[in-house]
Amino acid sequence: MRTLIKNGTLVSASDTVVADMMIENGKIALIGQDMWDDDAETIDASGKLLLPGGIDVHTHLDLPFGGTVSSDDFFTGHRAAAFGGTTTHLDFVIQPIGGSLHDGIAAWHAKADSKAAIDYGFHIAITDLRDDVMAEIPSVVDEGITSLKLFMAYKGVFQIDDTTLFRAMNVAAKHGLLIMVHAENGDVVAELTSQLLAEGKTAPKYHATSRPAIAEAEATGRAVAMAGISGAALYVVHMTCEEAVEQLVLGRQKGFRVMGETCTQYMFIFAEDLAKPGFEGAKFVCSPPVRRPKDAPVLWRSLANNTLQVVSTDHCPFWYEGGINGRLPGKELGRASFDKIPNGMPGIEDRMAVMWHHGVNGGRLTPNRFVEITSTNPAKIFGLYPQKGTLSVGADADILLWDPNHEHTISAATHHMNTDYNVYEGMTVRGWPTQVLLRGELIVDGERWLGQAGNGRFLRRRPFAEVL
Ligand code: URP
Ligand code: ZN
Ligand code: ZN
Repeated sequence: MRTLIKNGTLVSASDTVVADMMIENGKIALIGQDMWDDDAETIDASGKLLLPGGIDVHTHLDLPFGGTVSSDDFFTGHRAAAFGGTTTHLDFVIQPIGGSLHDGIAAWHAKADSKAAIDYGFHIAITDLRDDVMAEIPSVVDEGITSLKLFMAYKGVFQIDDTTLFRAMNVAAKHGLLIMVHAENGDVVAELTSQLLAEGKTAPKYHATSRPAIAEAEATGRAVAMAGISGAALYVVHMTCEEAVEQLVLGRQKGFRVMGETCTQYMFIFAEDLAKPGFEGAKFVCSPPVRRPKDAPVLWRSLANNTLQVVSTDHCPFWYEGGINGRLPGKELGRASFDKIPNGMPGIEDRMAVMWHHGVNGGRLTPNRFVEITSTNPAKIFGLYPQKGTLSVGADADILLWDPNHEHTISAATHHMNTDYNVYEGMTVRGWPTQVLLRGELIVDGERWLGQAGNGRFLRRRPFAEVL
């Protein structure tokens, strides 16, 4: 079955051209001018842009965390992602305490495989690097998993020590895996949290006080230094502030193989939001915390000039009012104490449109750089390129028909994420994926959902880390 998309403006990371595109067997088969095929289904894309489907490399679907479980599973999260123009994502398998990496991988396949409606892959988070787990690392490459995550924070839950991080880096360097870190000094955070609680400071706003920017910068610098010593390729997730970005810049100047991402929310939501009346601030509790307005222009500039290579979401949704109407417990778990608020925010549906509106319409990003940081770089860094992340012959036909004039007001009343609030509530954006194709199949057509649970494919990624 063939589909011909006519008269679209193709936007890739490098070019913008008006062209026709033939899709066959789920792949881009031909790109040209004045193409006709009476047997093909034809889509008229006049006035629309054609963008490669978004790739969100940082999500947590169905994650047991903070005394509950994140509220989107691999179906609801995928459907929401698709409505927002994301057709591929990478989620974090967590090694179970006492278990193996393969136990974790099996658990994540059990959550995902039958529900998946977009394409997906896994990273694996190491929580317990025993000798048998060290020996197991090279074999995860055979499972299509080529990135290892280590948490330098969440003491007593996921946090690892420097020995563990350095050992993991050495194995990763040898076997071509990418190391990812959540960089915050978890010991300092734990001490500050105890001090604040002892002083009776329990409100959501103290979440930010307990996790200062300098504690993120210190951990970032430490991980960058270890990457330099070990020769490992390092990718620092969810970077939030100037102090941390400076550490990445220093490492790159020294020739270390280090890269970084930020997440959409860090350019729009700030510590002052945590201080909203009552318990409202809990909606915005994530780690590292939302920062100061002055960090936002630093992050935008860093995305524009390749100091940071990727924008992701860290989608980890919880209900604001959970534990009722069949809902999982949510943010209300931390009413009495900020350290019990489940950490994380929804956002998988919003990234593409919010970044387009404020990035491209706002004059901060070219359309090509938008494509690069939302799709092409994620594919390159995580071993998916050129199957994903580009509009070239032979690539998967994951294509967004993007209407640059379509206005949409973001709201929990209309979003598809399985949560009762949206952190961008009321924001009107211009630019929207009106039709979304996954491997040539239309899965979103305006408001209509045409995708199917089980149609998403697990992506086996290549065992190398391209450092950009
Ligand atoms: O608050 C966050 N970010 N929750 C998800 C887990 C993580 O640290 O990425
Ligand atoms: Zn994290
Ligand atoms: Zn995360």
